[in-house]
Amino acid sequence: MKPTSQNSPLLIFGPGALGLYFAARLHQAGYPVVLGHKLSKVPESREVSVLVRGKGQTETLTLPIYAPSELLHQFGSFSLVIVTVKARHLQTVSTFLQRLQACFFLFPQNGAGFERSLKPALSGQFVRLVVTFGVTRTKPWQVEYRGDGEIWMEEKFLEPAAILQKAGFQVRLVEDIQPWVMRKFLVNLVINPLTTIFGVPNGDLTRVDPDLTLGRAILREGLEVLAAEGWHFNQEEIESLVISVLQQTAQNRSSMLQDLDRGALTEIDWITGYLLGLAKRQGIEVPYNETVYRIVKGLERKHGHLELF
Ligand SMILES: NC(=O)c1ccc[n+]([C@@H]2O[C@H](COP(=O)([O-])OP(=O)(O)OC[C@H]3O[C@@H](n4cnc5c(N)ncnc54)[C@H](OP(=O)(O)O)[C@@H]3O)[C@@H](O)[C@H]2O)c1
Repeated sequence: MKPTSQNSPLLIFGPGALGLYFAARLHQAGYPVVLGHKLSKVPESREVSVLVRGKGQTETLTLPIYAPSELLHQFGSFSLVIVTVKARHLQTVSTFLQRLQACFFLFPQNGAGFERSLKPALSGQFVRLVVTFGVTRTKPWQVEYRGDGEIWMEEKFLEPAAILQKAGFQVRLVEDIQPWVMRKFLVNLVINPLTTIFGVPNGDLTRVDPDLTLGRAILREGLEVLAAEGWHFNQEEIESLVISVLQQTAQNRSSMLQDLDRGALTEIDWITGYLLGLAKRQGIEVPYNETVYRIVKGLERKHGHLELF
């Protein structure tokens, strides 16, 4: 494996809420940060002015931005690439990612099911992140920090962990990231579709679904399917986790609801859809999850959401 050079740039590919927040923190810590986006979204100046609000502060910074072909031809290699496109765009950008030279590729996407095809094809190490803080795009190139949390990653990835820590992120190192990915998956399985269907901020979910009756049924099915796949979680522990996330993020609209609000397709296929795929493989019926999946897909169609790229 190539060593990480302090002078090689760091690439943030997919400059939305999370990408711009990563870029701002890393830039402020002195790392050479480059943004990557679709050619159609890259300004002629190859620069963008980014505004980040949060923790009582507002900061503006100017960052270089390039299209995929420019990144491939103008840069030899990157020390680190943080891929912050949505899970549904990973397939679109995978050919480009496979051609990039970098030591580490970090993936913070919620949901599951995209690792297998990407992991073996990259030039550097595939690093799965679990991100529990929240950021939201308020306008193009403007982001707001909306909830404290951490970045979880495997302890073997010391170099990227040190970079993220130096940039001010709270990094939790674990031996194996997969159980933490699946815990967050279960939390998202409950919160995202239900807040989207009811159209409520997270804190209102227990008001519209008293005692989380629907939420618990969705979770029960999820736990049964994951258990058949060899993942065993305690229902009470995950229920408490769901409730504490709902309380800590009470004012937030879930990312799935925000996607629907702003006319984008949701990540339902990588959350509930992923579970439906596993359930089918295991021959387990999951009627609650099947129903919320169909409703969210129906809402996407109702809002006329089409994937154009
Ligand atoms: N936001 C959070 O707090 C948070 C927390 C934990 C995990 N995550 C995960 O992180 C991922 C990103 O979330 P987000 O909230 O940052 O989403 P987002 O704001 O929608 O950002 C995604 C970015 O990717 C860009 N993009 C789309 N297609 C692209 C392409 N072909 N090439 C280059 N860029 C492309 C989008 O462009 P446009 O500007 O054209 O839309 C957008 O700027 C998601 O999978 C989410 O589950 C987010």
